[in-house]
Amino acid sequence: MPAYNKKTVEDIAVQGKKVLVRCDFNVPMKDGVITSDKRIVEALPTIRYLLGQGAAVILCSHMGKPKGQVDPKYSLAPVAAKLTELLGQPVALAADVIGPDAKAKAAALKSGEAMLLENVRFDAREEKNDPSFAKELASMAEIFVNDAFGTAHRAHASTAGVADYLPAVCGYLIQKEISIMGKALENPARPFVAVLGGAKVSDKIGVINNLIDKCDIIIIGGGMAYTFFKAQGASVGTSICEYDKLDLARETLAKARAKGVSFILPVDNIIGREYKEDTISMRIYSDSIPDGWMGLDIGPVSQELFSKSIAGAGTVVWNGPMGVSEWSRFAAGTEAVAKAVADSGAVSIIGGGDSTAAIEKLGFADRMTHVSTGGGASLEFLEGLTLPGIACLLDK
Ligand code: 3PG
Repeated sequence: MPAYNKKTVEDIAVQGKKVLVRCDFNVPMKDGVITSDKRIVEALPTIRYLLGQGAAVILCSHMGKPKGQVDPKYSLAPVAAKLTELLGQPVALAADVIGPDAKAKAAALKSGEAMLLENVRFDAREEKNDPSFAKELASMAEIFVNDAFGTAHRAHASTAGVADYLPAVCGYLIQKEISIMGKALENPARPFVAVLGGAKVSDKIGVINNLIDKCDIIIIGGGMAYTFFKAQGASVGTSICEYDKLDLARETLAKARAKGVSFILPVDNIIGREYKEDTISMRIYSDSIPDGWMGLDIGPVSQELFSKSIAGAGTVVWNGPMGVSEWSRFAAGTEAVAKAVADSGAVSIIGGGDSTAAIEKLGFADRMTHVSTGGGASLEFLEGLTLPGIACLLDK
């Protein structure tokens, strides 16, 4: 794992300077309304610090996947309104990203003021990390601060490319994310338990492999458990299963055995006839899922088994739901894990949208050591991969 020791906002003089700050304001939205402002709230310490130091703050972010086209559906207007409310001072939204309005607003911006550029992904050059786009972004500022942990795994113009043209440091959020997760990986309080869920083995295999070298116990739930069952010869009915990953699943199980890591799979499941919220359902032991039925959640015996391991943990890393947690009938497994982590007293690190949503829904966020703002980014960090949005910053 790369050990980052990057300069932060406190290591560079920002007073009277124009500072371009990349945040991850890719917040969940429903009907034009922000449904969780966590990523905005987590960006505030850096923004407040810079404003307090007398910098002129030019904020930027992506939102969704507008595919390089201007699409009002993905405008950052709701984010500008939320920032205005949270900071208690106006945050004007530029009508474009590097166009005349952005440039005029940036040029006129004074010390202690903040503005927001439109969605950087409205320009196709952003995701291509095109130097011409990075250069234009950089031309509006004198310093670059990256605080977009959630997008640090992307080598895009506004997350990495811009660091070629400006002195580049990290903000408080990136610093917090990498120091807490880095410490958990390097020097965990033991036993170190990883709870991994979600649909696909292929999404999580890198993390599982990296954590097998560091953890004492790995607990697997969610759709990917069925690939592991199938790999061991069990019938999985119509459950989600990656048939082309069975050898990989077997290798992973063998590696865990060789390292003496306990690899815990669900022992019972809630299964349904169809992938529908109101499907008929029943509980069944894991080795006997009948034809025509699919696993949709872990069962009560598995909840107890998983909770017991989590209760004894010194460190817990949790990423991914145990079942179809967005449907209340199949959310019990995910909620049981959330409760076990909250009750454990362990150093607890949560990543991924569904696990975070479960923690927030149950009101447990304050009982976690760290709820990461990164989904893919936190997984890649846990996998030991280099994050381009951090690697590009100045070393201390
Ligand atoms: C996320 O929500 O994981 C980040 O904002 C990155 O978004 P992306 O997957 O569209 O690059």
